[in-house]
Amino acid sequence: MIEARNISKSYGKKNNIMTAVNGINLKLPDTKTIAIVGKSGSGKSTLLHLIGGLDRPTTGEVIILKHNLTKLNKKEMDKYRSQDLGFVFQSFFVEPNQTCYQNVALPLEINKVPASQRKQRILNALAQVDLVGKEKNKARTLSGGEKQRLAIARAIVTEPKIILADEPTGNLDSATGDKVIDLLFNLHKSNGTALVIVTHDLDIAKRCDIRVYIKDGQVDKLEGAVK
Ligand SMILES: Nc1ncnc2c1ncn2[C@@H]1O[C@H](COP(=O)(O)OP(=O)(O)O)[C@@H](O)[C@H]1O
Ligand SMILES: [Mg+2]
Repeated sequence: MIEARNISKSYGKKNNIMTAVNGINLKLPDTKTIAIVGKSGSGKSTLLHLIGGLDRPTTGEVIILKHNLTKLNKKEMDKYRSQDLGFVFQSFFVEPNQTCYQNVALPLEINKVPASQRKQRILNALAQVDLVGKEKNKARTLSGGEKQRLAIARAIVTEPKIILADEPTGNLDSATGDKVIDLLFNLHKSNGTALVIVTHDLDIAKRCDIRVYIKDGQVDKLEGAVK
C-alpha cells in the first residue's frame, strides 16, 4: 500500500506561509500504475516527494510498503529509498561526465551490491532501456530521450518496487516522450514495478489504472480501480 494520512506540507515562515499540500488522504495499491494529475503549482511534485520520502510532511504520516516514513531517521530513510524506490525526474539528473555504465553503477555502489553481481545487472538495465552499445559513452553526449532512458536504467537497476516519475516527458518532444512513457509502462508489465507518475498530460493519465486529481494541494477527484 501507498498510504497518506492527512498529510500537509507548508513552506515559508509565520507571515508568509505557502501550503503546497493541504490535508491529503490516500490509500493506493503498490502494484498498479497511478497518475497524479493537476495544473502547474497544484502540489503534485510536493506530494510525490512526500510519498517518496524525499521530503517530510509538516503534518501527517506516509506509510509505504509497510514502512511508516515518519518514524524513520535520515539514514534509515536514505537506505529505504535507495532499496525500494526508483526516481525519474523531468530534468534527467544523470552525471554528465560519467559514462552510461558508471551512471547505472552508482545506485548499486550505494546499496553495496557485491561487485560480482554488478556488471550483469547494469548491462541488463541498459538493455531494458535500449541503450546497449552506449555503455562507454559519456552521458553528456546522449540525446534528451537517451538521457531520460539512462535515468530510467539507473532507477530500475536496484529492482525497486515502485518507480516515482515526476513529469518524465516534460523536457522531451512528444514522439520521444511517448517512447519514454511506453518504456515505463512496459517495465511495469514485465517487472511488476508499480508506477506513480506525475503528469499534466491526460493521455498519459488515461493509461494509468488510477488517477489522483490534485487541486490547490488537495485531492479533487479519484478515478480507477482503488482496491
Ligand atoms: N521549496 C519550496 N519553497 C517554497 N514554495 C514551494 C517549494 N516547493 C514548492 N513550492 C510551492 O508549492 C506549490 C506547489 O508546488 P509543486 O508541488 O511544485 O506543484 P506542481 O508540481 O503541481 O507544479 C507552488 O505554489 C510552489 O511555488
Ligand atoms: Mg511539479
